[in-house]
Amino acid sequence: MAHDHSAPSGTSATDLPNDLEAFWMPFTPNRAFKKDPRIVARAKDMYYFKTDGTQVLDGTAGLWCSNAGHCRAPIVKAIQQQAAELDFAPTFQFAHPKVFELANRLTQMAPEGLDYAFFCNSGSEAVDSAMKMALAYHRQRGEGSRTRFIGRERGYHGVGFGGISVGGIAPNRKFYGSLLPGVDHLPHTYNRQEQAFSSGEPEWGAHLADELQRIVDLHDASNIAGVIVEPMAGSTGVLAPPKGYLKRLREICDRHGILLIFDEVITAFGRLGFATAAERFDVTPDIMTFAKGITSGTVPMGGTLVSREIYETFQTGPDHVIDLFHGYTYSGHPLATAAALATLDLYRDEGMYQNAQAMEPKIAAAAMKLKDHPLIEDIRTIGVVAAFDLKPSAAGPGVFGYDFMVHAFHKENDMVRVTGDTIALSPPLMLESTHIEELFDKVTNTLNSFL
Ligand SMILES: Cc1ncc(COP(=O)(O)O)c(C=O)c1O
Repeated sequence: MAHDHSAPSGTSATDLPNDLEAFWMPFTPNRAFKKDPRIVARAKDMYYFKTDGTQVLDGTAGLWCSNAGHCRAPIVKAIQQQAAELDFAPTFQFAHPKVFELANRLTQMAPEGLDYAFFCNSGSEAVDSAMKMALAYHRQRGEGSRTRFIGRERGYHGVGFGGISVGGIAPNRKFYGSLLPGVDHLPHTYNRQEQAFSSGEPEWGAHLADELQRIVDLHDASNIAGVIVEPMAGSTGVLAPPKGYLKRLREICDRHGILLIFDEVITAFGRLGFATAAERFDVTPDIMTFAKGITSGTVPMGGTLVSREIYETFQTGPDHVIDLFHGYTYSGHPLATAAALATLDLYRDEGMYQNAQAMEPKIAAAAMKLKDHPLIEDIRTIGVVAAFDLKPSAAGPGVFGYDFMVHAFHKENDMVRVTGDTIALSPPLMLESTHIEELFDKVTNTLNSFL
């Protein structure tokens, strides 16, 4: 394809007919998008703006990440100042002050016992880091046979090879060969017959945690490194943990010396009304991953919080030898660190987790009004999250969900997240009652347009 690189973009006679072409978009049907794009050019607080200035309600906090709302002045200022003051500093063998301040803030925020913070740049890297730490921890203690991981069906742990191996979403796995060896999966916790139209934790399903004991019996605990679950499964379509389920997982892990990893990439930083899901459900993992809300999505950052016991296990070698052979060039990047500190201040100063708690019953009530809608099969809500299972169309699975998302954006100026035929809503935590009304009006109008 001839392309005239000497001409400014958009003016060349040889320009591609569609200049959206070159970007291979992630997790997107590219051909369909480029024929009928959904583009936002600006954002403020609860809203995006299309290129023509039309206001779009952000029903998804971007991608479950803009928890503080968009382009918030204190975060913008912190990033701008940091870019001018210290653009980059390595954190291998050197460091900068704010990264320590952030680690302290996070470990103070985390449930007791998670005393150390490690940084990376995304949720996928956080999951890889957690899994590598678990493997290395056991080996360091002379239990190198503990190499197996147990994930869960329908789990989403990002897109690294570790994450897709323990993850349980078939299309994310099936194209990518043999993945990591030695992985088993717990059953997912969703049962429509028992749990339909649940707000908060479903009553049914704690016994599903006992499947972990079955898997331990099969392989022997001496071969198992860790269990990884999302406390609330987000990307698969919002599955809150059944009452008592996470406690049972914790008990079984404790009995067998298996590390429990909570993937809190979505749930940390207020999504469920608390700093972490571990706090809400009163279960402390050995390792917790985080990303997204840490900077309110402004600058990429992820990380893990780990127990003192894990950290100290690595502090036994000679003074000049690295204790953990793992890290990223941009671990604890100054811009991300500055953004994270400003974001945590904003969450605190504006009482955003408390606001999330106050909004939870309002979201649940607004969502459940659609219970009897003929195109709805189930609704689930918890924290500032609501999910609708749409009745799949005769055209096949996922068609209605996709059409719903497209219609919501173009006709209702509403950004929603789609997974198959499930629509997930997870607006920024600064929302007020009026935003809930606006959001559910848009969802109802969209639904009705398909009647
Ligand atoms: C629970 C969970 N883990 C990991 C990830 C991956 O995060 P990232 O896309 O930043 O790599 C996600 C992203 O949605 C997630 O929800």
